Amino acid sequence: MIKFLDIYNQDKNLHPLMIKDIRNIFKKGDFILGEHVKKFENKFSNFCGSKFALGCANGTDALTIALKALNLKKNSEVIIPSMTYCSTAFSIINANLKPVLVDVDFMKPTINIDQIMQKINKKTKVIMPVHLYGSVVDIKKIRNIIQKKKIYIIDDCAQAHGAKDNKGKKVGSLADISTFSLYPGKNLGAYGDAGIITTNNKKLYLIMRKLRNLGSEIKFKHELVGMNSRLDTLQAVILNHKLSKLSKLNLKRKKIADDYDKKINNKKILKLTYSKNSVYHQYVILVKKRNELIKYLKKSNIQYGFHYPYAIHELQVFKGYFKSEKFPNSEMLSKYGISIPIDPNLTKKQISYVINKLNSF
Ligand SMILES: Cc1ncc(COP(=O)(O)O)c(C=O)c1O
Repeated sequence: MIKFLDIYNQDKNLHPLMIKDIRNIFKKGDFILGEHVKKFENKFSNFCGSKFALGCANGTDALTIALKALNLKKNSEVIIPSMTYCSTAFSIINANLKPVLVDVDFMKPTINIDQIMQKINKKTKVIMPVHLYGSVVDIKKIRNIIQKKKIYIIDDCAQAHGAKDNKGKKVGSLADISTFSLYPGKNLGAYGDAGIITTNNKKLYLIMRKLRNLGSEIKFKHELVGMNSRLDTLQAVILNHKLSKLSKLNLKRKKIADDYDKKINNKKILKLTYSKNSVYHQYVILVKKRNELIKYLKKSNIQYGFHYPYAIHELQVFKGYFKSEKFPNSEMLSKYGISIPIDPNLTKKQISYVINKLNSF
């Protein structure tokens, strides 16, 4: 069986170190925030090249906290791509704001920057691009479009830990606020829910620090209506160990993606274009006869996934919400897209097996 992702195998060398640290926490009884969370925040902001990092409970909360920190008027508009995970849109609604969709580029996983311009109006207060599948959006180009308008950029980096823009600057240091999910299956994943936010803006950092902790810095002094969205201390231990391996694992993903790019040559399979320094959280191919391919992969013992089978406007919850707007490039991904294994520890033999099977489909 070619597994889609094998977290146990990926981390097994780290387990003794993690368990030692966790046993110490059991002894100390220091279960909320504390030194391990602080250490992870410092390590992560160093890793990204940002001034501040703030752990929180998950990637959805990270987005919500970032939006709430801006203190915008109700129903202010937030532009997002129409192909992303539901959380990108939900966080906006949960912050009492309004999501506005823009399609992704043709055969690319990221937002069409030229079309952003057509959706900007007086109510637009945030642009929230998503580095989907690990492919990096050109944040500088978005800044140029905004010019002097007071519009914030919050980039959803849930799938792009360690990715860099074309100039070599790391994701997490490019926008006003950057948010990460640390869900187990991500390139950097905890053993449960977790998230982190980065920024260079001290004022926003201090507000977000309160928002994640029930509006409080000092016990019983609640200055804002906040959330209980702290990064769990035990998860911080896991993440501290895993962060030191991230760059190596991202390189392995890139090598597999290069192989797929070069060697998958079946005319029935279309490949997406990723940004130069993508970290390939997913490797997505497009196939017209997707159901046939699914049957074939099952028979060949190759696991697969969908990211995502519904674009945002196609989700049941949003029926009627985006009126009759069409987002053809996103719909292509939801209809024909299929994610193939890109576990960083796939062996050469396993990668060749996947390639050969796909080429004889
Ligand atoms: C693009 C994107 N945004 C947001 C999220 C939400 O993160 P979480 O599941 O940690 O809440 C995810 C991950 O699931 C994601 O892939």
